[in-house]
Amino acid sequence: MGRSRSVLVFAVATALAGVSMGGVGRSAEPLAFPEGYRNWYHVKSLLLEEGHPLYASFGGLHHVYANEKAVEGYRAGKFPDGSMIVFDLFEVKREGGAVAESERKVLAIMVKDSQRFAETGGWGFEGFAKGDPEQRVVGANAKEACFACHASEAAHDYVFSRMRP
Ligand code: HEC
Repeated sequence: MGRSRSVLVFAVATALAGVSMGGVGRSAEPLAFPEGYRNWYHVKSLLLEEGHPLYASFGGLHHVYANEKAVEGYRAGKFPDGSMIVFDLFEVKREGGAVAESERKVLAIMVKDSQRFAETGGWGFEGFAKGDPEQRVVGANAKEACFACHASEAAHDYVFSRMRP
């Protein structure tokens, strides 16, 4: 390979590396669906009934799951990179005095990567309508759609829920 050709190849390779490391390429990468989250640590469940201020968006029964790193985070009050938390929300059906899960409304996730998501407290946010990995509902709107509210929990690293005693 001639000298001018190898200089060109080097320049192109450097430019590509610049894109993937400079944030542009990386931040466009969608957050992965949390496969296997039902085997993670179950943090808590909560039933939000009509009359609760968040009923319109979060009414129903939800479960919160944490991966191993996030369990450390719940204990320490500060979550390490790689922490993932799932918020799994269902409609409910009432029958004979029992309240049971029915259709899934949304599966929401938070993923800690303090550099990549520096603008939103170090957390990436995504939601999957009906828990379908193909139906993303947040995308580039995490700041307004999710972080605006989670920001009030700054003292707990932007996480609302707590480990049960
Ligand atoms: C209006 C406020 C509000 C908005 C907006 C909001 N959340 Fe939350 N979120 C909460 C509250 C309150 C909890 C705690 C629920 C509990 O303790 O059971 C929570 C819990 C969570 C959890 C479990 C970890 C934690 O913080 O306890 C995840 C994951 C989550 N939300 C993701 C999202 C995503 C993704 C969005 C954007 C689509 C979003 N949230 C928007 C209020 C909000």
